[in-house]
Amino acid sequence: MDSIQKTDNFVFQTYLRQGKAFVKGEGSYLWDEEGKKYTDFLAGIAVCSLGHCHPKITAAIIRQASTLVHVSNLFYTLPQADLASKLCEKSFSDRVFFANSGAEANEAAIKLARRYFQKKGEKNRYKIITMLQSFHGRTMATLTATGQDKIKEGFYPLLEGFSYVPFNDIDALKHEMDETVCAVMLEPVQGEGGIIPADPAYLKAVRDLCDQKGVLLIFDEIQCGMGRCGTLFAHQLYDVTPDIMTLAKALGNGLPIGAMLATADAAQGFDFGSHATTFGGTPLATAAALEVVTIISEDSFLDQVREKGRYFKEKLEALNEKHSRVLAVRGKGLLLGLEVDKDAGFFVKALMEKGFIINGIQDKVLRFAPPLIIEKKEIDRLISALDSLL
Ligand SMILES: Cc1ncc(COP(=O)(O)O)c(C=O)c1O
Repeated sequence: MDSIQKTDNFVFQTYLRQGKAFVKGEGSYLWDEEGKKYTDFLAGIAVCSLGHCHPKITAAIIRQASTLVHVSNLFYTLPQADLASKLCEKSFSDRVFFANSGAEANEAAIKLARRYFQKKGEKNRYKIITMLQSFHGRTMATLTATGQDKIKEGFYPLLEGFSYVPFNDIDALKHEMDETVCAVMLEPVQGEGGIIPADPAYLKAVRDLCDQKGVLLIFDEIQCGMGRCGTLFAHQLYDVTPDIMTLAKALGNGLPIGAMLATADAAQGFDFGSHATTFGGTPLATAAALEVVTIISEDSFLDQVREKGRYFKEKLEALNEKHSRVLAVRGKGLLLGLEVDKDAGFFVKALMEKGFIINGIQDKVLRFAPPLIIEKKEIDRLISALDSLL
């Protein structure tokens, strides 16, 4: 039996996989079992942002794997300490909680927001407002937070105390704000919802409203953060700062790690014993992530992301002008979406045959989230393949 057959026979059939098994990755390229080479415009869903098997990340993993892999959070380790202090130095935050995935980082954020007010004796402040079309994960709390019904099917009853408003609609948010609200949670650029950036004026108004009402603001930057949008964190594009932010995906460039970052004030919601996870912040994952943050946060690295993002978007806009099947181009930096009239799946399959990996979201949106090191000549090749398909 080959890997495809074995997977289909023995792994839960929860993922609709493209019929390819990959055996090797290097930079922006992947190779399948037959030795065919592909240019990766998905990066494992915005995870391998430094490309596959980046030499510095690989070296950090090897170094740490041969020194100390896990010791538990009953003790201290230097890679965890260094990563936490680096994330705080580079962001608004004063404290970090380490998790293993995006959903788990969001769980921590939801729990922190509720406990922050419970601790102050404000027991009726528990409601979390999230956005329609949002995506926050697949655990019970995070699928409840997610603003898409299809994710919730079959899992009722959900958690109490969540409500949903249309994204980029400040009046709807104002209308939903009452004295039971503890937090507003949103993605500055919605990813799974169809690559939909927040309007700058909207994000500022959300911050002002939260300040007025004493409500915590949580940004889920699991997909749009870590340099993806051309600044280290997407909210820096908007000059709007949250109280709590979650990261995962590109933070480990492929090693599983998530993080919840908070201001000193918001962080007071947790005390000894209020939250924990066995694998959170292992020396192995944090050693890799420390290297990732060091590379991605360099100005020259972020400059080239912005420049290539601009270049890529211009080319997509030109396709929009030329082809009636294209309905819209959206996104920031190297998180871009091309909305087509129907059947994103056709393009995903046809591009794979031509040696490009992308994926389709919400049936009609082609998502491009290449490694941030992608070269312009690869962008040109993809655009020309798309042009001929359109
Ligand atoms: C914005 C956002 N939040 C949360 C998640 C969940 O992350 P994970 O799959 O690591 O649990 C995702 C995953 O796609 C995401 O895009």
